[in-house]
Amino acid sequence: PLPPKFRVPLPIPPEKKPTRSVPGADHYDITQRVREVEIVPGYRTPVFGYDGMFPGPTIRSRRGRTAVVTHHNELPVPAVVHLHGGHTPPEHDGYPVDLIHPEGWRADQHGGHMAGDTRRGSREYVYPLDQPAATLWYHDHRMDFTAPQVWRGLAGFHLVQDDVTDALPLPHGDRDIPLMICDRAFAEDGSFRYPALDPSLRHTPGVRPEYMEGVAGDVILVNGAPWPTLEVAAARYRFRILNASNARRYRLTLRPRPAGGDSFAQIASDAGLLAAPVPHDRLDLAPAERFEVVVDFSRYPVGTEVVLGNDLGSGSTADVMRFVVTRRATDDSTVPSRLAEIEPLLPGPSAVRREWHFTRGVVHGHQGWTINGKPFDPHRMDARPRLGEVEVWRLFTDLHHPVHIHLSPFQVLRRGGRGPGRFDGGWKDTVDVRPAEFVDVAVRFESFAGTYLMHCHNLEHEDMAMMSAFETT
Ligand code: C2O
Ligand code: CU
Repeated sequence: PLPPKFRVPLPIPPEKKPTRSVPGADHYDITQRVREVEIVPGYRTPVFGYDGMFPGPTIRSRRGRTAVVTHHNELPVPAVVHLHGGHTPPEHDGYPVDLIHPEGWRADQHGGHMAGDTRRGSREYVYPLDQPAATLWYHDHRMDFTAPQVWRGLAGFHLVQDDVTDALPLPHGDRDIPLMICDRAFAEDGSFRYPALDPSLRHTPGVRPEYMEGVAGDVILVNGAPWPTLEVAAARYRFRILNASNARRYRLTLRPRPAGGDSFAQIASDAGLLAAPVPHDRLDLAPAERFEVVVDFSRYPVGTEVVLGNDLGSGSTADVMRFVVTRRATDDSTVPSRLAEIEPLLPGPSAVRREWHFTRGVVHGHQGWTINGKPFDPHRMDARPRLGEVEVWRLFTDLHHPVHIHLSPFQVLRRGGRGPGRFDGGWKDTVDVRPAEFVDVAVRFESFAGTYLMHCHNLEHEDMAMMSAFETT
């Protein structure tokens, strides 16, 4: 069933309340479970949900205040939680083999051959969050099964706030809105349709070969609702846009464009504020990237319907959601011309340089995806960067691969022989590497020694082994 467009109001994921707060830390409990929710009007869709919700509840933290999140796994399958963009100690980073087994899971089922630090029933994740304000998100990271488990609903926002951002006159309160955009396909009975080889997600990983490039759907969801509508005042709004799709890229535009000026003022990237706002008429988003933008609806007459479109889509996927400007309002927000101090990461002449080549390849006798010709092995370290040193990593590809590095953000130095592209500004943790192109990034790992990941965030590519482990020392 293809649901009608622009009928459902935009849901805002509820904020999670701490179970308890102590000096310096807030404790949360989240239960992962299967629940039926109404996504397509009139149908019930079983989801894997954090607290049974899709998206999961939003956690809001302050910089330097530790969030301790205990995840209880009541799903029928193992789960792993990763806080994407979090500056997190290795044992809490959600390494793919550090599974939370559901009670009653038998060890002879999938994955026994590469056991990690496995728990039964629940696991406590400690996030120090000593990092600038940013739009982070948490999602599943189970070895070989991340793609189908995120597709079924395991994703939520974790917003970090700090004094620098709070002091800026940006839109706030109910004019500061997270938008999780993803695509899904539905079966006749309303359930999510996903071409898993083993729909029980218990034994055999992977998708049917024709989905090797990634799984896309024909329904666009924002915060879990199909093509929703948001009524807005004729005022400025801050949107924290996340592409949580498994494989789909978007080119977001406003239709019609606002009178006099650009559609979007970008204020932040994946890992926090930009130095200064960047105007855009379109926003290119690869999977896992975040763009925070301000849209000024006062440039439209009251009554205007504004579609957030996707110029990379066609047919049903050419639209994302709709805004309706319903009323005048006072607005004391502005977009300041300076936002934050950004320390440029300057690699010295003797900086360590590494090359990472993202290509198709053979994975355990099948077609898959590799980095430097090798499929992921959670026990093989492909690099040993030293903490506190700036390195230059060159990423290059055969096809589109959105590359994500855990632990520390990076800065784009060069793209295809030129300087950074229009969407590369600020501190990034995911960068879209385009066909036959290279991207050089400067990265400096900090604080925590241990094992981390770098991988393609096209989730089917990730599950088909396009992932690499490194150890910070
Ligand atoms: Cu958003 Cu390693 O993932
Ligand atoms: Cu990829």
